[in-house]
Amino acid sequence: MSDKAKAEDEAVTIPAQSDGSTGGATLTEDAAPGETLLKVTGLQKHFPIKKGLLQRQVGAVRAVDGIDFEVRSGETLGVVGESGCGKSTMGRLITRLLEPTAGTVEFEGKDITHLGVGGMRPLRRDVQMIFQDPYSSLNPRHTIGTIVSAPFKLQGVEPEGGVKKEVQRLLSVVGLNPEHYNRYPHEFSGGQRQRIGIARALALNPKLVVADEPVSALDVSIQAQVVNLLDDLQQELGLTYVIIAHDLSVVRHVSDRIAVMYLGKIMELADRDLLYKSPMHPYTKALMSAVPIPDPARRGAKSERILLKGDVPSPISPPSGCRFHTRCWKATQICKTTEPPLKELRPGQQVACHHPENFEDQAPQDVVLLSDAKEATELVAEEALAESARTSAAVAAEAETGATEAEGAEAAKSTEAAKQGTKDAKSTEGTGSAEEEPPAKEK
Ligand SMILES: Nc1ncnc2c1ncn2[C@@H]1O[C@H](COP(=O)(O)OP(=O)(O)OP(=O)(O)O)[C@@H](O)[C@H]1O
Ligand code: SF4
Ligand SMILES: [Mg+2]
Repeated sequence: MSDKAKAEDEAVTIPAQSDGSTGGATLTEDAAPGETLLKVTGLQKHFPIKKGLLQRQVGAVRAVDGIDFEVRSGETLGVVGESGCGKSTMGRLITRLLEPTAGTVEFEGKDITHLGVGGMRPLRRDVQMIFQDPYSSLNPRHTIGTIVSAPFKLQGVEPEGGVKKEVQRLLSVVGLNPEHYNRYPHEFSGGQRQRIGIARALALNPKLVVADEPVSALDVSIQAQVVNLLDDLQQELGLTYVIIAHDLSVVRHVSDRIAVMYLGKIMELADRDLLYKSPMHPYTKALMSAVPIPDPARRGAKSERILLKGDVPSPISPPSGCRFHTRCWKATQICKTTEPPLKELRPGQQVACHHPENFEDQAPQDVVLLSDAKEATELVAEEALAESARTSAAVAAEAETGATEAEGAEAAKSTEAAKQGTKDAKSTEGTGSAEEEPPAKEK
């Protein structure tokens, strides 16, 4: 059995409660909607590279290289990024299927970073994962009926109408023929296998579902069904999702917030609407420019596409400073030397960039583009560059007006205060002289 299949078996192999209950064991009280369910701090996963007879470590693949984020109860966090940027590794770290190299993972306020198999057992029903690769995540020796009903049996859960009926319902809900209950995984296509994985993950009504490219193997009509199913379940049961995709068009419809990853780091983390309306990281902007535009009136907007220069660099030795600087058309010296921290530049929008888009450019006036940036610029449509300059100028002007207004308001306030002060001073003068100095006539 593959590692993933083993991990999946582990994920569902939870003994029923000794009292015969449905095994509602949870680590802590349920998080209220909007409260933090999962918190990740400085999370890293470096896969060692070993060589030679002695298998000495000669380097490491820095698949996830220090990420921080929170997932709130009831929300859907979308995670996007190019192939190899560490999305699946991140998913497997937060479900504790992989041991982190550094950092912490907290679930419902409890640090679960280093919990062993026993400690993780009660958590396994609360956190489920749908795997990216439908070929290696199902046990080939079990029928799909056995696979999807295993969580019910192992937890001692007896759904209304019986396990078989519930499993068949789950199968039809994910677009499979319930009559295929007794078939084996090899008799299904990749897309169908993925649907089996989804049915199994949702069977126990977990609190958090980490879905790694859950619909990429499905055809369009089934994608819609599955997305609607995930949505309905979220509404009904208050589920929380982390949905991983390489494509912004999938997460757009399902996410409340979106994290954009590049070479093991989060480049931008923002509310969905903010991210689509005004992306701030150049990489986000490039990814968005590659999403087909469904509006027929804007079909001609192809010219705004931003093609990225070259391939994604190796995660074994990521570029210095900002990891995106070798492909960014705005890169300056500071980008090469100093890593930009992920900062909240607008409420609900965190960005790791020295010269963000749709924002007042924070670069000094005399900055010089790196030669990499000059080459990258050649691949960026004139319209995109012009738009970027326009929005930066507009935000800068707005900021200036705001500052002038604020200064004006401040000045008006101080004038008012000064007047008030004079008034007060005058009245105090009057009172003071009356109180402190006895009237001359009384002397
Ligand atoms: N077990 C492992 N051992 C060594 N390197 C690994 C291992 N798993 C992943 N990697 C490497 O870590 C990096 C991130 O891989 P990961 O699968 O997380 O990327 P991804 O964003 O999910 O990509 P994709 O969109 O192709 O699924 C890649 O360079 C990959 O080769
Ligand atoms: S402008 Fe600089 S910091 Fe921002 S993404 Fe480009 S290279 Fe990175
Ligand atoms: Mg992946």
